[in-house]
Amino acid sequence: MCASRARAYAGRMLDTDPSLPQTRPAGQSGAAPAQVRHLLTEIPGPRSREIHARRTAAVAGGVSSMLPVYVERAGGGVIVDVDGNTLIDLGSGIAVVSVGNAAPEVVARVQEQVARFTHTCFMVAPYPGYVDVCEALNRLTPGDHDKRSALFNSGAEAVENAVKIARRATGRDAVIVFDHAYHGRTNLTMAMTAKNLPYKDGFGPFAGEIYRVPMSYPFREPAPIDGVQAAERAIDVIGSQVGAVNTACVVVEPIQGEGGFVVPAPGFLPTLNRWCAENGVLLIADEIQTGFARTGRMFACEHEGVVPDLITTAKGIAGGLPLAGVTGRTELMDSVHPGGLGGTYGGNPVACAAALGAIATIEQLDLPAAARRIESIMMPVLVDLAARHPQIGDVRGRGAMLAIELVRPGTTIPDPAEAARINSACHRNGVVTLTCGTYGNVLRFLPPLVIGEELLREGLGVLAEAVAGQ
Ligand SMILES: Cc1ncc(COP(=O)(O)O)c(C=O)c1O
Repeated sequence: MCASRARAYAGRMLDTDPSLPQTRPAGQSGAAPAQVRHLLTEIPGPRSREIHARRTAAVAGGVSSMLPVYVERAGGGVIVDVDGNTLIDLGSGIAVVSVGNAAPEVVARVQEQVARFTHTCFMVAPYPGYVDVCEALNRLTPGDHDKRSALFNSGAEAVENAVKIARRATGRDAVIVFDHAYHGRTNLTMAMTAKNLPYKDGFGPFAGEIYRVPMSYPFREPAPIDGVQAAERAIDVIGSQVGAVNTACVVVEPIQGEGGFVVPAPGFLPTLNRWCAENGVLLIADEIQTGFARTGRMFACEHEGVVPDLITTAKGIAGGLPLAGVTGRTELMDSVHPGGLGGTYGGNPVACAAALGAIATIEQLDLPAAARRIESIMMPVLVDLAARHPQIGDVRGRGAMLAIELVRPGTTIPDPAEAARINSACHRNGVVTLTCGTYGNVLRFLPPLVIGEELLREGLGVLAEAVAGQ
């Protein structure tokens, strides 16, 4: 949500929504941890620190953790650490456990599947779960045209494969990406990702034929510009520096994730989509972070009625098990020769069972509506905080994908130190929050969509104290 839409929430009275669970998350089994913040030790506690010391001696330093509390169990809206502390989860493992950790439908289907068989390789001896997930993806993704899907292990792998398909289908090489984009950490997706540190520094040379164009970032536009104009600015760069005839695809996150929860101005995505269609360029929506109900619709493209040619999914698709997909128009997907797509583990049967459980949960509990309710609870609180604390320059996002951008008061100069300070204060007080943004100055909120209202409000209270420096 842009700042102006955010401001419209200011002062609005909130009704307590009885459909948001108060103590136990919707759909959570009796074994779920109690849905209360409860701190027994400092964060991280002694047992976490002990494991962390072992980790430092065993795990490569390049793999970092934002909050080194070691997890014992998790469910609904909480994480319980090895010291017995219960933390409120406003991160969902980076937008993954939207259905809650250990969601009952996921657990039941995984247990059933894992006891039958764990792997045959879909490319060797296939199984029905893979087909079921592809059917679900074809049904749920935007557009009622004929579609096909293929499954992979990670978001980056899905993006790589979407680019392969686009190049094969169009016979063109160039790939257009945006400022602030994040698409992963493999060689091709590093090239597509904008931010140098920590993702790219020293890891080149990168894959070729990737061209970066300006994004619509309303808070950071030097002069007011609407979404159509921002798209025309990007199209102009493509035309002058790449050439439409050389361009296979434009890859865009409908709301940028790691880049700072950047919501493009209305009209940006539809204008790009129209230009792509007119020029034989494929629009690939990277919905890896925004997909599966996170933004209040099943997919974020739907907010603007955009139907992409190809869509990449991962994260929220499988309740925490590694699975990713590419879904798109049949003629594009089927332009690839047999054997051109795949991998040993892609669409693993246990991950597919988890996905079917997660998708059933999303549909049964109407989690897009839950995301919209979370927005209606969180947005007024964030807007009120911004009104009282000038270091919050912008409040934005959609559904349960919301953020505040920290700046030097009265300017748009990024203040990553202030974001880090607030983030650490939240952690010390038992609330898991995450930062993001090209400048590291954005605090983002991605609660599980099954989080109870009381817990969510408590988390927001901790955030408010952290912002105020209490
Ligand atoms: C929009 C987007 N694309 C791609 C990726 C990469 O996904 P993965 O980490 O599963 O490779 C991410 C991960 O954060 C993402 O947010």
